[in-house]
Amino acid sequence: MKSSLTRRNFLRGGIAIAGVAMTSGLGYSAQSEEREKNDMAASKIRIGVVGGSFGAAFHWHQHPDCIVEAVSDLREDRRKHLMNVYKCDKAYNSLEELIKDPKVDAVAVFTGAPDHVKHSVACMNAGKHVVCAVPACMSLQEAEELLAAQKKTGMTYMMAETSYYHPAMISARQFLKEGKFGDIYYTEAEYHHAGMEYALWEDASGHTWRWGLPPMLYPTHCTSFLVGLTGERLVEVTSIGWGDGDPIMDGNPYKNKFWNETALFKTDKGNAMRVSINWRGAFGGCERAQWYGSRMSFFEPHPNGTGPIIRRATHKMGADSAGFARTESTFEKYEQPNWAQTLLPETLRMGGGHEGAEPFLTHEFIDALINKRKPAIDIHEALAYTVPGIVAHESSKRNGAQMKIPGFDK
Ligand SMILES: NC(=O)c1ccc[n+]([C@@H]2O[C@H](COP(=O)([O-])OP(=O)(O)OC[C@H]3O[C@@H](n4cnc5c(N)ncnc54)[C@H](O)[C@@H]3O)[C@@H](O)[C@H]2O)c1
Repeated sequence: MKSSLTRRNFLRGGIAIAGVAMTSGLGYSAQSEEREKNDMAASKIRIGVVGGSFGAAFHWHQHPDCIVEAVSDLREDRRKHLMNVYKCDKAYNSLEELIKDPKVDAVAVFTGAPDHVKHSVACMNAGKHVVCAVPACMSLQEAEELLAAQKKTGMTYMMAETSYYHPAMISARQFLKEGKFGDIYYTEAEYHHAGMEYALWEDASGHTWRWGLPPMLYPTHCTSFLVGLTGERLVEVTSIGWGDGDPIMDGNPYKNKFWNETALFKTDKGNAMRVSINWRGAFGGCERAQWYGSRMSFFEPHPNGTGPIIRRATHKMGADSAGFARTESTFEKYEQPNWAQTLLPETLRMGGGHEGAEPFLTHEFIDALINKRKPAIDIHEALAYTVPGIVAHESSKRNGAQMKIPGFDK
């Protein structure tokens, strides 16, 4: 018989050195199915959910290995919303109170971005595993602080990056594994979100943390498309910012003047990645990527109406009339598989926002804890998605100066 006491000890003690290799971050494992059959309710992960806006978009209560033990928000209306969504009757007035609850194994931190490090560190110091909304941190100092706390406590930390589980991104991971791309020498990613101005800047209590947020301090929806695919690290950047002097930016806490920022990154393999993050302008809202490979390129759907598209290089022998050797490519419409049907437990096959990413993130965190393995977007991946944007914003402030990006892998 498997002892629930043993598992609870494990949950308390952290799993930083757990040995199961994580490659794709996918798959509803046979292990999990077996466990479900055995009805090991005593060993389910007991999660506390904090933040009743985006934090209410997940499916913790529907995961076969998870129980929502408690919820929290500073706002009563949002506490009630969380209680309602997760069918949980225990609510705390703040994260700081919730983490004192010994029944809580793990915390879903969905508070505002400037509080992520403070809250994640408090949770880990209280012996709780953490899944935190993006970005992981807002400064290099915070990156160091977060990494140090995770190393010291050994608790599991995962960042809930939705782009990682776009259906096209799951397909791209499969194409990469099968060697279909050849070399991915260039990746373009864009996050264009007009709602980030005006609508999300104020609530009943005044300005929110999004007021004046520099685009490159919110880079992970884009950087994850390459870092979360090939594992490459972004090591250098030049970035250009654009602003129009609109006085509504005056006095913002980030001292930011840019609505939009566009960066060109160099990877540790010498490849190029272009990231464009726009809050204001004429565009269709999107979070998307296109990956250019030597043999195959893959284009996520574009708001102008194309995609998903695959192009395969066809090398023609001989030369054209001007004497140049010719390379052409096919144009194929790609039928996007419904990955949830094969990769998620039945109770999580409901789709969701961000192209259905939330059920995948729910499953990945719980499955990682249950199976004593690192989550796909662990502390190192989270920082490798987040830190390049922090440096890119510095580059924008210095008129596009070429800057080196520190690594946080050791
Ligand atoms: N695609 C994505 O990955 C995606 C989408 C939306 C939001 N987000 C991220 O999710 C997070 C939440 O976003 P949001 O739009 O819901 O923000 P929000 O500011 O509307 O909500 C944050 C909530 O946290 C609560 N809170 C703050 N401090 C607390 C504390 N100490 N204890 C308890 N509650 C506390 C606030 O009262 C608030 O209701 C942000 O970090 C954002 O970046 C990510």
